[in-house]
Amino acid sequence: MRRKIKRKLRVIVLVQTNLIPPDTLDGVENKEKELWRTEYDVVSTLRGMGHEVWPVEVRSDLGVIREAIEEHKPHVAFNLLEEFDGYPLFDQHMVSYLELKKQNYTGCNPLGLTLTHDKTLTKKILAYHRIQVPRFAVFRLNRKVRRPNRLRFPLFVKSVSDEGSVGISQASIVRDDEKLKERVEFIHRQNQTHALVEEYIEGREIYVGVIGNLKLQAYTPWELVMTNLPEGSQNIATGKAKWDVEYQKKIGLVTQPAKLEPQLRIEFERLSKRIYRILGLSGYARIDYRFTQHGRLYVLEVNPNPQIAHNEDFADSAEHCGVKYQALLQKIMTLGMSYDPMG
Ligand SMILES: Nc1ncnc2c1ncn2[C@@H]1O[C@H](COP(=O)(O)OP(=O)(O)O)[C@@H](O)[C@H]1O
Ligand SMILES: [Mg+2]
Repeated sequence: MRRKIKRKLRVIVLVQTNLIPPDTLDGVENKEKELWRTEYDVVSTLRGMGHEVWPVEVRSDLGVIREAIEEHKPHVAFNLLEEFDGYPLFDQHMVSYLELKKQNYTGCNPLGLTLTHDKTLTKKILAYHRIQVPRFAVFRLNRKVRRPNRLRFPLFVKSVSDEGSVGISQASIVRDDEKLKERVEFIHRQNQTHALVEEYIEGREIYVGVIGNLKLQAYTPWELVMTNLPEGSQNIATGKAKWDVEYQKKIGLVTQPAKLEPQLRIEFERLSKRIYRILGLSGYARIDYRFTQHGRLYVLEVNPNPQIAHNEDFADSAEHCGVKYQALLQKIMTLGMSYDPMG
C-alpha cells in the first residue's frame, strides 16, 4: 500500500503575550507548563508531523503578524489567541485583520467570535430559534441591584464577558435578594464587568465539540462529573474546579463520554450542529449544556476556538470518535485553508 504523502505546510502559530512555548519540556515544572500547555502541544505536534512552524507572540502590535506573513508566506495561521493586549473581546479584530490580509487562519471567523463573545446576545439569538437557554438579566456596573420579577431563585451570578470561570464559585448560586445583591457587587468589584444573572439550572454538565465549515461533525458528548463533591456543594465548573489540580483530585473531577441513551446523544449532536450554524461559526467550537433530570437541554455557553491541548475535553472527545490528536490538528488546518470569508 502506498503511503499518503502529506504536504508539508508553512504554519505561523499566533500566541498570546508570554505564551511562546519552550522547545523541550526538560526541567520544566508542571505548574509552569499549565500556562502554555496548549501552545506547546500544538507547536510540538505540528513539528512532529513535519510541518514548518513559527510561533508568533502577539502583544499590542499587529505589525508582528504582518511581518511573519511577509517573511514566512504561511499556508495557514494557527490561531491560539484569546485576547489582544489584555482585552479578551478583541481577538475577533485580529481575525478580521487576517481576513483583510487575505491570510488563511484556523478556527472561527470574526462574526462568529463577535456573536458568541456576547453571552447575552448569543442567548437572545438562540431563544429566537426556540432553543432553551436560562432566563437572564444583566446588572450593570454602578447601577442599583433590582431583580426583575420574572427571575426566580435560585439564581446564578457571573461576569457578562469573562471566560474561564473567573469569579465563579459555590457562592455564585444565590437563593435570596440579599445574597444576590452581595454577589452582583462582588462581580462588579472583582471582575470589573457587568454581572450576568441567570436562573440556576440544576442538572448534568455536558459539552459537545463541533468541527467543520459547511459540512459539520459533532464529537461524542462529554460530561464533567464530580465523584466526591462535599455535602451541599453543586456540580458547577468553578474557577477552582477548572484550574486547581489538587482540588480536582479532592472532588474526584473527571471528564468522560456522557452516558446517554442513543436517541439523546443524537439529539445533543444535532442541536449542537444547529446552534453552530445559527451563530455562523466556522473551524471548531464547543457548546456547554446543563441537562436536567426532566430531560431538558439548556445551552449555557457557546465557545468558538475552545481549548485544544492534548488530553483535554475537545481533543479527548475527538479521539473517542477515532480522530487522533495529529489528525485533529491537521483537520483544523485544512478547514482553515478551505474557509472562504467571501462566502
Ligand atoms: N445558569 C447556570 N446554571 C447552572 N450552572 C451554571 C449556570 N451558568 C454557569 N454555570 C456553571 O458555571 C460554569 C461556567 O459558566 P460559563 O457561563 O460557561 O462561563 P465561562 O465562560 O467562565 O466558562 C458552567 O460550566 C456551569 O458549571
Ligand atoms: Mg464555559
